[in-house]
Amino acid sequence: MSKQGVLISFEGVDGSGKSTQARMLYDYFKKHNYDVLFIREPGGTQVSEAIRAILLDNAHAKMSARAELLLFLAARAELVDEVIVPALKQGRIVITDRFSDSTLAYQVDGRKLPRRVVTETNSFAAARVKPNLTFIVDLEIAKAHSRLTEKKDRMESSTREFHKRVRRGFLKIAKAEPRRVKVVDGKKAPDAIFQEILAVSQAFLTRRKLGPQKRSKWICRDNFALLADALTGVRRRFAMHQ
Ligand code: TYD
Repeated sequence: MSKQGVLISFEGVDGSGKSTQARMLYDYFKKHNYDVLFIREPGGTQVSEAIRAILLDNAHAKMSARAELLLFLAARAELVDEVIVPALKQGRIVITDRFSDSTLAYQVDGRKLPRRVVTETNSFAAARVKPNLTFIVDLEIAKAHSRLTEKKDRMESSTREFHKRVRRGFLKIAKAEPRRVKVVDGKKAPDAIFQEILAVSQAFLTRRKLGPQKRSKWICRDNFALLADALTGVRRRFAMHQ
């Protein structure tokens, strides 16, 4: 049977720098020939992207917290069924920019919805898929929001108090699950943060025996043919000079 893949999630408040880090890890693994897939939440399928547009649209400023929760979960259910579960079955490394911890931090700590209900529906929407490794890029809200250069979306437009509760929510999750969840200091330079994330990820993948794919993209029939031609040319030229 083929090996089960892994899900690595990146979490943090808006403007924390987590998307940059998630991309950097994806680019690194891709470059080093790991079988890796990048996704973001909410989004990643046709239905989930349509839901994302509803969720982030400032025209829906008055959306109820329960409707918001259910929309995030609907987007997740689609992504899990269509993309994540098939990729994990193929033994791939899936890197996701946000996952179920965002729902706990934003909808429970931020919006103050009941934890028990959200925990249960969250796990239902994810078909019990949980990240194997999670990085929380932690940054104080004032600094994080000073980095938001584009026009704020509906979620980003929530009050500063809301975002402070979200940050505390993430830190609570990290405290409760220290084996799965690693907190990195968002104040550090992006490269320094990335080195920490890379070291933890590589150690984790080694434990899971998930390494780069053996068959390098250079070792394919076409490249062998090119190499053989080049060697024949060199041999001929060498023979001419004898
Ligand atoms: P996005 O533009 O992807 O923000 P970021 O680049 O900071 O991740 O928008 C996603 C927003 O939705 C973000 O403010 C966090 C919020 N969110 C929730 O409130 N609950 C959730 O379950 C998820 C996945 C995201």
